[in-house]
Amino acid sequence: MKQTVIQLTDVWKVYSMGEVEVNALQGVDVHITKGEFVAIVGSSGSGKSTMMNLVGCLDLPTRGVIFLDGKDIAKLSESTLAQIRGQKIGFIFQQFNLIPNLTALENVMLPLEFQDTPAGEARKKAIALLEIVGLSDRMHHLPSQLSGGQQQRVAIARALSNDPEVILADEPTGNLDTSSGTEVMALLERLWKREGKTIIMVTHDMNLAEHAERRIRLKDGKIVKGE
Ligand SMILES: Nc1ncnc2c1ncn2[C@@H]1O[C@H](COP(=O)(O)OP(=O)(O)OP(=O)(O)O)[C@@H](O)[C@H]1O
Ligand SMILES: [Mg+2]
Repeated sequence: MKQTVIQLTDVWKVYSMGEVEVNALQGVDVHITKGEFVAIVGSSGSGKSTMMNLVGCLDLPTRGVIFLDGKDIAKLSESTLAQIRGQKIGFIFQQFNLIPNLTALENVMLPLEFQDTPAGEARKKAIALLEIVGLSDRMHHLPSQLSGGQQQRVAIARALSNDPEVILADEPTGNLDTSSGTEVMALLERLWKREGKTIIMVTHDMNLAEHAERRIRLKDGKIVKGE
């Protein structure tokens, strides 16, 4: 049987806005196994990013249970959770989220340093990762000196630095032109096929979602059955 990486059981997320409550997720069940490539689709406001934040253990649900590698994340201390997250999950965001005053190389080295990798080793690994994403000749550039597609490739190299089992990508091509978007998609696909990574990707774009093995469609915070 395939190993479960992440499981959400009857997960609700309610945001309280003073008197008003927003039911961003309403009883969602998700089961993701090792090595899967899953696309999360749905219209704006349907709960995709909310779900990704929960899947990535960046947030806790209002109700329901989230298991990461069989552990109930609500029962872990914040420091244990941060450690597991740092080792297991690589994040890629629509806005790249690179540190502006650090070079491409330094950005990729950062998570390695957080995990106490010796500087020399971190540097070597970061150089190798930038080579994989095709940016050996841009290592010493600041994010502002890179194109959008190049910045996203730096962010992917950074997401890979701790060799995570799972890669979470929220609209990874949302800010890119078609050709950079195609490049980034090809990179994600290669990580899935060749490296066996588990990939969960949010997208508006059905053409991109077609690259995944499976699609989860959200509508008003609920999963639409039969996709
Ligand atoms: N921090 C928050 N506080 C209050 N309401 C929120 C918060 N974050 C999201 N929401 C609301 O929860 C719902 C789901 O938002 P979410 O960001 O998950 O949507 P999405 O599917 O990612 O949309 P998009 O495609 O536009 O990124 C929306 O109605 C949104 O307004
Ligand atoms: Mg979103």
